Amino acid sequence: MPGLLLDTLRGTNTQERPIWLMRQAGRYLPEYRALRAEKGGFLALVYDTDAAAEITLQPIRRFGFDGAILFSDILIVPFAMGQDLSFTAGEGPRLSPRLVDNALGALTAVPERLTPIYETVRKVRAQLGPETTMLGFAGSPWTVATYMVAGEGSRDQAETRALAYRDPEGFQAIVEAIAEVTVDYLCGQIEAGAEAVQLFDSWAGTLSPQQFERWVIAPNARIVEAVRARHPQTPIIGFPKGAGEKLAAYARETRVDAVGVDETIDPLWAARELPEGMPVQGNFDPLLVLAGSEDLERQAIRVLDAFAGRPHVFNLGHGIGQHTPIAHVERLLAAVRGWTRP
Ligand code: CP3
Repeated sequence: MPGLLLDTLRGTNTQERPIWLMRQAGRYLPEYRALRAEKGGFLALVYDTDAAAEITLQPIRRFGFDGAILFSDILIVPFAMGQDLSFTAGEGPRLSPRLVDNALGALTAVPERLTPIYETVRKVRAQLGPETTMLGFAGSPWTVATYMVAGEGSRDQAETRALAYRDPEGFQAIVEAIAEVTVDYLCGQIEAGAEAVQLFDSWAGTLSPQQFERWVIAPNARIVEAVRARHPQTPIIGFPKGAGEKLAAYARETRVDAVGVDETIDPLWAARELPEGMPVQGNFDPLLVLAGSEDLERQAIRVLDAFAGRPHVFNLGHGIGQHTPIAHVERLLAAVRGWTRP
């Protein structure tokens, strides 16, 4: 029997709601911070497959979430495409050479940088019970491209958006190169034991409607088609953060199995406008978990009630913040587990 999460992603409107949290493996957990201090740095953790497996399992042991998301990062794909990658504390990721002046042709692929990630998936799956779903993931081409082009994170992705207008053909080549690696990478995770995968398009929200069609919907649709051709049973969750009203077109046109909803979207709107019966995931505000006011339970129930008419995976609207108290996460879990249908 598949677990509650996999059941939901396959389209069953289950009586109880599965829950996992984006960024559930990470800095708000003291056991993560301890291991990170010992191993020295984020990339060292990702490439130590025992450590990465252990970190993936930490939130499952502590909270019993329904899904275990692989501990890795969306920027492993540019690393495997041949960019140098570093994470410096307090500064965020750095990639070089930057692709802003079309250095794509200068990169030499290093595909063996993906292999340890599959090993982590295998190690985690072997330690999970059948009730817990192993989740793989990748960044979507647009979001990954914003880091590859600028060489770092940016507030409004201006450099990448400008490049896409200035040189659409050149930018298309970057997006296609990322998409190609991403398909293999997701299939590799599935073959190693991932039972569902999520595509993170974290910066989808800064694109105009036409650019959203070209750089978000089109490449995600291509990835979904190619992964599904090889693994038709594996649900694919698409999460274009910040898509706003464009989320409905994304859900229809990419053919993802389930769609992530961020906290800026009214769940009643999403429940009404997304294709009937399509599973949704979200959309609790992570700052409500951080704040932990008495509103926490009430708002959680509001989200659960709004999505009662379709399959729903309870999650946040984006990643859990590093200063979130554990006790607030426990309250959220109790509220979700105690929910009954209105
Ligand atoms: O628990 C999980 O969700 C699984 C692991 C995971 C990480 N990153 C670990 C991580 C996942 C799914 C991601 C996705 C990711 N990475 C995204 C998409 C989702 C989102 O958050 O928008 C993006 C844009 C990245 C790129 C990235 N990675 C940035 C910008 C940073 C630095 C900023 C930050 O939050 O520290 C990272 C580092 C990173 N990835 C950390 C973790 C736990 C922090 C590393 C540390 O210092 O310990």
